[in-house]
Amino acid sequence: MAPVRILTVVGARPQFVKAAMVSRAIVRHNEAGVQPSIVEDIIHTGQHYDRVMSQIFFDEMGIPRPVVNLGVGSGLHGETTGRMLAGIEVEILARKPDWTLVYGDTNSTLAGALAAAKVHVPVAHVEAGLRSFNKRMPEEINRLLTDHVSALLFCPTKAAAANLAREGVAEGVHIIGDVMYDAAVVFGEIARERSAVIADLGLPSKQYALVTCHRAENTDDSARLAGILDGISGVAREMPVVFPIHPRTRKRIAQLGFEERAKGARLIDPVPFVDMVRLEQEARVILTDSGGIQKEAYFHGVPCVTLRDETEWVETVEAGWNQLVGADADRIVNAAKKAVEGAPIAEYGDGRASEKVLTHLLS
Ligand code: UD1
Repeated sequence: MAPVRILTVVGARPQFVKAAMVSRAIVRHNEAGVQPSIVEDIIHTGQHYDRVMSQIFFDEMGIPRPVVNLGVGSGLHGETTGRMLAGIEVEILARKPDWTLVYGDTNSTLAGALAAAKVHVPVAHVEAGLRSFNKRMPEEINRLLTDHVSALLFCPTKAAAANLAREGVAEGVHIIGDVMYDAAVVFGEIARERSAVIADLGLPSKQYALVTCHRAENTDDSARLAGILDGISGVAREMPVVFPIHPRTRKRIAQLGFEERAKGARLIDPVPFVDMVRLEQEARVILTDSGGIQKEAYFHGVPCVTLRDETEWVETVEAGWNQLVGADADRIVNAAKKAVEGAPIAEYGDGRASEKVLTHLLS
């Protein structure tokens, strides 16, 4: 039987985590000798290129080596997305995959989906249907367009599938749970065993706050960034704060001369996934504008404060785990002080979402 050929397009940090889980499921499928076998070719757009933002994830999570890295790097949205489109199209035409597989909501997601759809290769989108209803976010544009050219739409939650239904997208929609939950289950264990980050940083277990912030809507707006950094420094007066800082945010802080604003917080370089999971597990509270980390907080039983005005992960707020505070310093500090655990969330699946991706691709 001829193998099923999948072309996976990744480029930014959160995609490496999601794709790792599906790649592991592909390896298991092939090792079990199930027919048809699957050939996965990975294209790395090069959107993220620093070792700590990219290569470290491939090494640590055992992701197969990409067949090509387009080396697109940073730049304006149109310029970088355009270069990705052109590069991905060449690979699709040469490799003739049965499916193109894309993840999440980054510019690499959109480029992969659009390139494939235009040459009539069906697109499968993992993490379909999420909406913030804020079209000023590049991610929202990427999600909307990707979903509307996808043939298979893998929704992590019922709310995501309902969003698609409202947009008239019903065919090919499957609620499979969250591949990030799969990652939390597998790497939660590994992190406890292997990561020494808590001891290395001398952090007091369950007494510190973990912060991340990188969204364009927060970093590119100086008033919002000022509010968030002031909030973080307010939290640092209450408890130790550790802040693995994304290169985008570090650059903006330097440009704006905001170094003093996050006073008291411990800024460290971005950390590998296993260390990030460990930092999450031991935190008292997590403050973030990341989509994935809002859920990882819940997966590891830690309350979250979200530095945004809306979230795609509405169930985390409804269950009481997550507070939306925007970029207001006082609200950030108050939310961090009163953050508590919420109720269980009956979503996100059973830790086998990545296997379900394969089942649907093969049927
Ligand atoms: C991108 C995604 C965002 C995702 C995030 C995860 C888009 C529109 N945004 O945002 O949805 O949550 O990845 O990290 O696709 N940079 C480096 N080294 C790197 C990567 C980036 O220095 O390895 C710097 C560059 O100055 C670059 C800036 O960070 O201009 C922003 O990078 P970019 O990929 O455009 O967006 P992210 O903020 O990472």
